[in-house]
Amino acid sequence: MSIFLDTADLAEIEQFHRMGVLRGVTTNPTIYLKEGVTGGLRGVEQRSKEIARLITPLPLSVEVTSTDRLDVFRQAQTFAAWAENIVVKVTIHGPQGELENLEIVHELETRHNVRVNVTAMMSAQQCVLAAMAGATYVSIFGGRVNNMGYDARAEIAKLRRVLDRLELSAQIIVGSTREVLNVIEWLEAGAHIVTVVPDLLRGMIVHPYSKETVQQFLADAAKAEAMLAAAPAESRR
Ligand code: E4P
Repeated sequence: MSIFLDTADLAEIEQFHRMGVLRGVTTNPTIYLKEGVTGGLRGVEQRSKEIARLITPLPLSVEVTSTDRLDVFRQAQTFAAWAENIVVKVTIHGPQGELENLEIVHELETRHNVRVNVTAMMSAQQCVLAAMAGATYVSIFGGRVNNMGYDARAEIAKLRRVLDRLELSAQIIVGSTREVLNVIEWLEAGAHIVTVVPDLLRGMIVHPYSKETVQQFLADAAKAEAMLAAAPAESRR
């Protein structure tokens, strides 16, 4: 079970990576845009290489941005060549439900030694098929599933049971994390990995009562120090 960071922010990645709590990073075109990565594929290439170098050998997922079959295939191979730890993200299907993507996933994984993360999935059945196609990672968007009124935990648990039973090696990444609570509950439900935005990871560490406790320890230590300084010289021996 592990945690990935869902961001393209270098400073945030560096901070959490130094703590030793990360096992990978995931991105998507929306994340790059939010981080101000402009300049088309050149911008994506530069930032992806920086992240990949920073976290190597941990995996970095970078998403293809085309709907054209040949272009998706070309982009995937180009991204994978940027660094050894880059995993290519491909959506489960095209914007209108076009079916070419799983064929591309299968080809990339079985003939071109490219590791693929199949993304934008909302159900166990989609993930099982992506795993059968040979995907290294299958990404289900837990927060979006919950937003549709279903409990992502049930879908994750079902998916894990089926993958294990079929002895499929794909790792389940649960993304679209909305609450601190999601991380442990989704790992417990059967996710191999939960990918979280930096604010939620901070929220997992910082607890108001821990803050209060630390403040109390520091205040009492200062009081004890002051008492010692005020005590007569003989009593300090
Ligand atoms: C996962 O790999 C995705 O990058 C991400 O978690 C999607 O989250 P969103 O629903 O907040 O866009």
